[in-house]
Amino acid sequence: MRLIINGASGKMGQLAITALAKSDHDIVAKLNHEDDLKKTLSELKPDAVLDLTSAEVVLQNTKTIIESGCRPIIGTSGLTEEAIYSLQTLSKKNHVGGIIVPNFSLGAVLMIQFAEKAARYFPRAEIIEKHHDQKKDAPSGTSLYTAQKIHGVRQNQTVACKETITGALGANVNDIPIHSVRLSGLLAHQEVIFGDTGETLTIKHDSLTRDCFAAGIALACDKVMELGELIVGLEHLL
Ligand SMILES: NC(=O)c1ccc[n+]([C@@H]2O[C@H](COP(=O)([O-])OP(=O)(O)OC[C@H]3O[C@@H](n4cnc5c(N)ncnc54)[C@H](OP(=O)(O)O)[C@@H]3O)[C@@H](O)[C@H]2O)c1
Repeated sequence: MRLIINGASGKMGQLAITALAKSDHDIVAKLNHEDDLKKTLSELKPDAVLDLTSAEVVLQNTKTIIESGCRPIIGTSGLTEEAIYSLQTLSKKNHVGGIIVPNFSLGAVLMIQFAEKAARYFPRAEIIEKHHDQKKDAPSGTSLYTAQKIHGVRQNQTVACKETITGALGANVNDIPIHSVRLSGLLAHQEVIFGDTGETLTIKHDSLTRDCFAAGIALACDKVMELGELIVGLEHLL
């Protein structure tokens, strides 16, 4: 597969280049901020673009990729449920498959699946996501995706608690509070806490080094040409 990496000089872009070094994929361009994605797509006509850029530009980048007839592999966070729906509609119209991956690590994928399972039994959940202080957006893509998955199973039970300071209860996503922590020393961590009478259940995942994303990046690249639509989540490829 002929592949462009967008955001190639970033932390995840660099990891992707290393992860794909031994693969059969041909990285035909490594793009960054100053490069013109649309122009490069029309010149090089690659099979796919792996986007690891920023929440501010990911929606437009993904539209540009799909409209060029190329397959998107989106690791960048920040796409809302509505944005994803609009991209899926666009990909159908353009007959282009691809994948949006909220988290490339196996442990995080399983954490979300276990949370989805627990949501059938527990009436209320809250999410705490913690990341390094260089992360430019909040909440994380993983926490948004987890909230969507829990919401797909059940309505989160509401509480009567009123905020006396705005933000104290976290961001409300499908009635599920997401609390974002940004501190140096952290990499990427998430806890999903379920509560019911007299007990709590915590499902917790820690990314300790970025290497945990490498196998997932390679898997998404290996499989993207087989996808007939724009899907969300690495779990569909495992
Ligand atoms: N899915 C996952 O498993 C996973 C895991 C970790 C991180 N992420 C996400 O991946 C994204 C990248 O993370 P990171 O840690 O690599 O960030 P980073 O180190 O800040 O790298 C982002 C890169 O994208 C470039 N960029 C920014 N805007 C661009 C644009 N309009 N066009 C082309 N390139 C652009 C940046 O260039 P400049 O430096 O010149 O701005 C930089 O090279 C973030 O959204 C992050 O949340 C996803």
